[in-house]
Amino acid sequence: MTADRAPAPSGARVGPGSHLLVCGGAGFIGSCFVREILAVRDRTRVTVLDKLTYAGNLANLAAVTNDPEQAARYRFVRGDIADPAIVGPLVAEADAVIDLAAESHVDRSILDPSAFLLTGVLGVHVLLEAVRRESERAMTGERRDADGRRRPAPRFLQVSTDEVYGSIEEGRSAEADPLAPRSPYAAAKAAGDLLVQSYRATYGLDVVITRGANTYGPYQHPEKLIPLFTTNALQDLPLPLYGDGFQRRDWVHVADHAGAIAFVLAHGKSGEVYNVPGGGERTNREIVAELLDVLRKPWTLVRSVPDRPGHDRRYAMDGTRLAALGWRARVQFDEGLEETVAWYRDNEAWWRAARGPEWDDYYSTQYRERFAASVAAPPGPATRTADGGWAPDRDE
Ligand code: NAD
Ligand code: TYD
Repeated sequence: MTADRAPAPSGARVGPGSHLLVCGGAGFIGSCFVREILAVRDRTRVTVLDKLTYAGNLANLAAVTNDPEQAARYRFVRGDIADPAIVGPLVAEADAVIDLAAESHVDRSILDPSAFLLTGVLGVHVLLEAVRRESERAMTGERRDADGRRRPAPRFLQVSTDEVYGSIEEGRSAEADPLAPRSPYAAAKAAGDLLVQSYRATYGLDVVITRGANTYGPYQHPEKLIPLFTTNALQDLPLPLYGDGFQRRDWVHVADHAGAIAFVLAHGKSGEVYNVPGGGERTNREIVAELLDVLRKPWTLVRSVPDRPGHDRRYAMDGTRLAALGWRARVQFDEGLEETVAWYRDNEAWWRAARGPEWDDYYSTQYRERFAASVAAPPGPATRTADGGWAPDRDE
C-alpha cells in the first residue's frame, strides 16, 4: 500500500539525504513512517528513539533491518524522550525531529494517567528544549556539519490527534477551533500540542503539527478496537462493545497517516497545524459488522459492555488545509479494513507475541468486570429503527 509522499521539491525544509530523528518509531504509526521513508531509498537516514514500552515492538521494523541497504541508513536507540542526556546529542545530529512517542490508549489513561503526562507533556518539553538549543546554535553559526558548513535549525513535527478537539456531535473540527480534550490521553496530547505552539510563538522554532484521525492498519497493538476485535474474533472470544456502539470515528489508514506526516514535514508551512482526516466515518457497530463479515464470524460474539467513562461520541475533522497543500488520503476504508483484517489473520505470531505476559493483566483489569456485567449486543449492524428498536442484522 503506497502513501502519498511526493518527492521534496526545491524549497522543501527536509528532503532526500536528510537525517530524521523519529521518536516513538517502534510503535504502530511510527514504524510505518520509518518503513515507508527508508523504502524510498533516497539516502534519507533515520534514527529511531524509542523507550520500547509495552506498545513498542522492534518486530515492526524487521523490514528495515532485514534489508542491508535500508539497515545501513537506520539506527535504533532505546531511550526516553523525557531524558535530556539522551535527547540532546540526537537532536544535535538531526535535520528534523518527528515526535510520535506517546502513551496512546485512552482506556489505559483512564486506569492511570501518570505515564501519559510524563511522556506527553514533560517528554515533549525535553524535545522542544533540545530543538530550541539547536536553533540558537544555528543562529550563532555553531551548528555545522562534518565539513564545517553551517546547518539550519532542525524542524520539529509533533504528531497530535483529533481527540484534542473533544467530542464533535455535528460538523467538523477545523485547526483554529478551541481544544476541548475530555480524557487524560487527549488532555496530555492537547498539552503537548499547545506547548509546541508556544515554542513557536515565544522562541520562533520551526514547528509543524499534524492532528490525525483514528488510525488502523497492520502492526497496531491489539488493545485498540480493530485489532482487538479481529484477534478476539479469530479465537471466537467475545467482543466488548462499549455502550450502544453508535459512537462515530473517522478512520485513516496508517499508510495514509504516515504519508501525511512525511508530506507535512517536507511541505508544511512553519508554525501551521494540519488536520489529517481519513474520510472513513463509521459507527463502531458498522466497523464490527464489517470485520465480522470479512472473518465470516457471527454477530453473536458481540457483547454490550458498560461504557467507557467520558466516552467521546464523535470525532470528525475538516481536511481543507492539508488538501490545499496538495495531499489526499488514498486508501478507501472498506478495502483498507478488509486488507487489515486479513493481515491479522495471516500474522498470528505477531499478535500472539503482542498479547504476551503484560496483556493478561491488562485484559483482566480492563474487561473482567465489564464482561461480568455484559449482555448480548442487540443485532443490527448500523441503525436504530424509527420506533427506537434495532434494525435486523444483515446476515442473521
Ligand atoms: P503506539 O502506542 O503504537 O506507539 C507509541 C510508541 O512510542 C511506542 O513504540 C512506545 O514504545 C513509544 N514511547 C512511549 N513513550 C515513550 C517515551 N517516553 N520515550 C520514547 N518512546 C516512547 O502509538 P501510535 O498509535 O503509533 O501513535 C503514535 C502517535 O500518533 C502518538 O503520539 C499518538 O498520540 C498519535 N496518534 C495516534 C492515533 C491512532 O489512532 N493510533 C491517531 C492520531 C494520533
Ligand atoms: P480505540 O481504538 O480505543 O480508539 P479511540 O478511543 O482513540 O477512538 O476505540 C475506538 C472506538 O471503539 C471508541 O469509540 C471506543 C470503542 N471501543 C469499544 O467499543 N470496545 C473496546 O474494547 C475498545 C478498545 C474500543
